[in-house]
Amino acid sequence: MHFNLKVKAEKDILKFNYESALVKFFIDGDNLEKLVDDFFASFSFPQNLTQKKFFLDKKNSELTYYSSFGEPSVVFLKKIKVDKSFTADFFRDYMAGLVQTLKGKQIKTIHLVVPAFSHFPGHFNSDEYLIQTIVEGIHLGNYSFDKYKSEKKNTEDLQFVLHYSNKTLVQNIIDKTNHIMSAVHFTRDLVNEPAITLTPQEFGKRTKAELSKLGVKVTVMNKMELQKRKMNAILAVGGASEHHPLMIVLEYKPKISKKKIALVGKGVTYDSGGLSIKPTQSMLEMSADMAGGGTVVGVIKAAALLKMPVEIIGIVPCVENMVNGSSYKPGDVIVSASGKTIEVKDTDAEGRIILADALHFASKQKPDEIIDFATLTGAIAVALGVIMAGLFTKNDDLANRLYESGNKTFERLWRMPFSDDYKSMIKSEIADVSNLGPRWGGAITAGKFLEHFIDEKINWAHIDLAGPALKHDFNNYTKNWDTGFGVRLMLDYLENI
Ligand code: BES
Ligand code: ZN
Ligand code: MG
Repeated sequence: MHFNLKVKAEKDILKFNYESALVKFFIDGDNLEKLVDDFFASFSFPQNLTQKKFFLDKKNSELTYYSSFGEPSVVFLKKIKVDKSFTADFFRDYMAGLVQTLKGKQIKTIHLVVPAFSHFPGHFNSDEYLIQTIVEGIHLGNYSFDKYKSEKKNTEDLQFVLHYSNKTLVQNIIDKTNHIMSAVHFTRDLVNEPAITLTPQEFGKRTKAELSKLGVKVTVMNKMELQKRKMNAILAVGGASEHHPLMIVLEYKPKISKKKIALVGKGVTYDSGGLSIKPTQSMLEMSADMAGGGTVVGVIKAAALLKMPVEIIGIVPCVENMVNGSSYKPGDVIVSASGKTIEVKDTDAEGRIILADALHFASKQKPDEIIDFATLTGAIAVALGVIMAGLFTKNDDLANRLYESGNKTFERLWRMPFSDDYKSMIKSEIADVSNLGPRWGGAITAGKFLEHFIDEKINWAHIDLAGPALKHDFNNYTKNWDTGFGVRLMLDYLENI
């Protein structure tokens, strides 16, 4: 179940009713008790002394206070200690958790007093961004993918009112964040969709339907078109599926633009591993193997909604990596569109193969930068865990700007080694490059493989998001559904370009 959400801004709290709640943050410090007393003194109902003692106790950080007076019906008190353990993700995570606990409750309106930015030195770049994280958390926590549940509950209305001295400022942030979050939702719906429905064709269709109405030119290159362009790498990987391979090309071209950026995303709508077949447990997650492609279309959707002054070309090669009589095989040599040849040593390292043709195509568009997103290797999650994505590039400036956006949005990146020493590990006797390196350093050699297909004059970064794109337990807003990782990150990056 998810709520039919509305978020709005107000200066003062004018009135409560029986179905309303109030969220109040307290900065934990010497005068906490006085702050709590003053807070309760502002209401017509007395505070409960036992509950107050409980709330002041070091061990407890939150208290839910049910008022028999009903105005408001519930008060959520939350203590924030701004110490080493505090992060810029605090409000996003807290709000997501709060929305989830409200499911099934009768509350219709939540009033929230926005805390002052000055309490959190060094954690948010601006007042605006602090408020943005609150709005993001509300939407992220409200997300669910319940279209296949036959027992449909009615979606209930839930309204959040953010109280802040400058109402117009907050309203503008809410409007902007609603756009960003509608794009994150679009990406999450694509990634969470099972592969039986989200075939390459369906991926193309939904992208076209959603983005062409925003003025983005969406071209779906079908199998014949790929053949004409000699994109044999995409064709080889997609050759064993009834759902033919294709490539989605998106062009967002604003009147004024500062730069031309190519975003490339892996769009493997299902990865069985091919003849190098995966065990069932690993296959279970593999309808999400198009998450990189999902991120690319989400970013472009939001850029168009926000009318960002950056030209973006999106490139998403889509295939199903399956098994039949025409499967590509270990031992095959593929002549990619660039002319470079690829020795196939493992058909489960398919993402890098389809990206070979896509990155070559991206290079030919002569963008200022190419950034690619791919659930490329399990090895990156072994190295970094699932809370960060791997960042691979030789360009320090590009790396630093992406890293900053990662920290700000909490879609964090960690830069990995990328020196040419790793290049020798994917040499092939029979072809120009092998699609498989040695056991160790698997995420790096995968990145090195991609480098073969990039024009070296173009700034390029590769992001392996196999960890954080898939659902995981580490945040309230990532635990139930695949996450849409990278959309918020890239929008911040593009905003600061
Ligand atoms: N799609 C997988 C990577 C992956 C693993 C994504 C776990 C999300 C979660 C990729 O195509 C793959 O199978 N990679 C292999 C590479 C190996 C054969 C060199 C892997 O990680 O085992
Ligand atoms: Zn894959
Ligand atoms: Mg694979």
